Amino acid sequence: MTSRAKTRTAFFCTDCGNETPRWQGQCPACDAWNTLVEEPRPPSSGRRRAGAVAPASDRRPPRRLGEVEADADAGRWLTTIGDFDHVLGGGIVPGSLVLIGGEPGIGKSTLLLQVAAHLSAGGRPVLYVSGEESALQVRLRADRLSEPTDEVTILETTALEAVLEEAASLRPDILFVDSVQTVHVAELESAAGSVGQVRECAARLQRFAKETGTAVFLVGHVTKGGGIAGPKTLEHIVDTVLYFEGAPAQDHRILRTTKNRFGGSDELGVFRMSDSGLHVVENPSALFLSARGRPVPGSAVTAGIEGTRPLLVEVQALVARASYGAPQRVAAGLDPKRLALLLAVLEKRAGRSFSQLDVFINVVGGLRLRETGADLAVCAALLSSAADRPLPSDAVFLGEVGLGGEIRRVSQTDRRLAEAARMGFQTAFLAPGGNAPESGVTRHGVEDLHALAGRLFS
Ligand code: TYD
Ligand code: MG
Repeated sequence: MTSRAKTRTAFFCTDCGNETPRWQGQCPACDAWNTLVEEPRPPSSGRRRAGAVAPASDRRPPRRLGEVEADADAGRWLTTIGDFDHVLGGGIVPGSLVLIGGEPGIGKSTLLLQVAAHLSAGGRPVLYVSGEESALQVRLRADRLSEPTDEVTILETTALEAVLEEAASLRPDILFVDSVQTVHVAELESAAGSVGQVRECAARLQRFAKETGTAVFLVGHVTKGGGIAGPKTLEHIVDTVLYFEGAPAQDHRILRTTKNRFGGSDELGVFRMSDSGLHVVENPSALFLSARGRPVPGSAVTAGIEGTRPLLVEVQALVARASYGAPQRVAAGLDPKRLALLLAVLEKRAGRSFSQLDVFINVVGGLRLRETGADLAVCAALLSSAADRPLPSDAVFLGEVGLGGEIRRVSQTDRRLAEAARMGFQTAFLAPGGNAPESGVTRHGVEDLHALAGRLFS
């Protein structure tokens, strides 16, 4: 007990950063298993002695909100990489702290080096701190890129003090730290990558960003065990969180905003990894529709909204007789609970039983369906596979399915239909009613699943 009191350690969850006094198998805050590691507790810098005076740098006179300059958009810095500016809410906000999370090898360093190249080519001084790779390794990567990278200033270090010192003397507009799990401050006893270090480094960089107006980008690897703190432990400290996703076998990557103090969350940018770095995919809807030649049973298209953008997505269903045991339910890109619910509604309200059938769902392109507006497409795909008859190949399906089997309208129908029309779709199955401005898409109102089934396969 005395030794514990002396070293002042606690147990931190490497997923969410929650602190507990005792070890447990499961984190009480985020329910993750085996993520607690023992670390020295950071000295509580936030707790000031009563009566202590704030340092001069922390003191500003109170102002009326109207007197605070709010020219946020005009002050943004554009990287000229369209989708990157888009996910940030329209460019980089000076003084902001942005976290880019993603699995190792997904392309975070590549993307940020390209961003750095674009910015420095546009005359903005940047500093790229590489704690993970040597300058030579970064140079070798840079040589593959089509952007000119000669003007990017690179610093090899893992000491955060050195980063802040160099940044203070070089005065870059944008500072990149790759990665936050490799930098550390000398004062903390814990190793680089621990929850305490990662948070302290992020907090100091946040202060530096706010004081100097420098925009700071942090790379954070999504970790699987190993006692290294993941990007989630930083989400509350930073202004903006971007996640870079994509299956290694596929060459496209999705950059998604999950938090943004300066713009919408859930924005999405799509890139393709080539042998000369990442390139923006100009027409993402085309990417998420499989090669659609001959119509196949079990394939349905919906028009979703990702952030502020409409996007066409193809849902594939495969229904087959279960060979033995309990029938399987496998869903890639769809919440399995949503699938279970839709199967139950189909059975109860449309008279189609799947209880003796294996059901597989796949969303093309590795996308995840987050909106209930895709329900109708999932049901249509299931009905089509069960009947072994393809759906009309020029149709999109929009609608949320209720427990009574009724079909509800989705938001922003017109924008979804406009995107569908742009991609050559001519008919839409959706909830009845609503005013219909000319979009070039013929609307078929369907009241409920029973009506849909009748309409499609009668
Ligand atoms: P990287 O940016 O190092 O990933 P992260 O920083 O997220 O760990 O990306 C590494 C992968 O990208 C690696 O498998 C090689 C591939 N790559 C290309 O396919 N083309 C390129 O032009 C570059 C630079 C990398
Ligand atoms: Mg990297």
